[in-house]
Amino acid sequence: MIKKCLFPVAGYGTRFLPATKSMPKEMLPILNKPLVQYGVEEALEAGLTDIGFVTGRGKRAIEDHFDLNYELEHQIQGTGKEVLLSGIRELIERCTFSYSRQVTMRGLGHAIRSGRTLIGDEPFGVVLADDLCLGEGHGVLAQMVAVFKQFRCSIVAIDEVAEEDIGKYGVIAGEAITERIFRVTDMVEKPSSGNAPSNLAIIGRYILTPDIFDILEATEAGRNDEVQITDALLTQAQQGAVIGYKFDGRRFDCGSIEGFVEATNHCHALHERD
Ligand code: G1P
Repeated sequence: MIKKCLFPVAGYGTRFLPATKSMPKEMLPILNKPLVQYGVEEALEAGLTDIGFVTGRGKRAIEDHFDLNYELEHQIQGTGKEVLLSGIRELIERCTFSYSRQVTMRGLGHAIRSGRTLIGDEPFGVVLADDLCLGEGHGVLAQMVAVFKQFRCSIVAIDEVAEEDIGKYGVIAGEAITERIFRVTDMVEKPSSGNAPSNLAIIGRYILTPDIFDILEATEAGRNDEVQITDALLTQAQQGAVIGYKFDGRRFDCGSIEGFVEATNHCHALHERD
């Protein structure tokens, strides 16, 4: 039912300089696979096969990654190395990839708004690839699609975060419907110290209903003078409903060196086990 998934990938990745000076941060690998590929695999597992990238200058490597490289394919044909490309080949076969440029960087809300022509008038997923989410059993997006089927409104992934870190996130306040499902009553983007409405932070996975686009058009710049998706979602929550979903699994902030190393160690341990 939900087929489309938007990946805002235009950001500069300044937290990872100099590595990201000429390489997209989404192409940083955890073991031998770029972060963005983990995200697309998660989308595919959830049944989202129309992948849209909101891209920007210097991000060509992402387009090339989701395309065939005939020279390379020819070179390794029939060798033991072919198997290393089987995962990405499967994504290329089963998904479609579309691109739109975010010409000026005016925040995540603005990036999502820039993807409007890729999405049209249907509910869609959003993946922030530097949040690596490894679900228990089903992936996080697949879990969220199941929640969407029940509530038919926008869904945000949430996770409990330590007090000293809460100011780095969008934060919700909500009424618990079940242990994992909250009806959002308030939302604040990157609250200042002591002003967070809870310890439930928004993680980089969303399912959005398409009315978000008109709301985003009317949303003024907020925190850091950027158009915030959190502010648009608060409007949706006030006009109708937004659900916060505490997912089953682990999330790594791969936009930070600590999170990136943690994710690498975690995936390496899994790799050694298998
Ligand atoms: C963005 C969102 C924020 C969310 C976070 C998740 O912030 O604005 O609400 O909590 O992603 O990673 P950013 O990390 O781009 O500053």
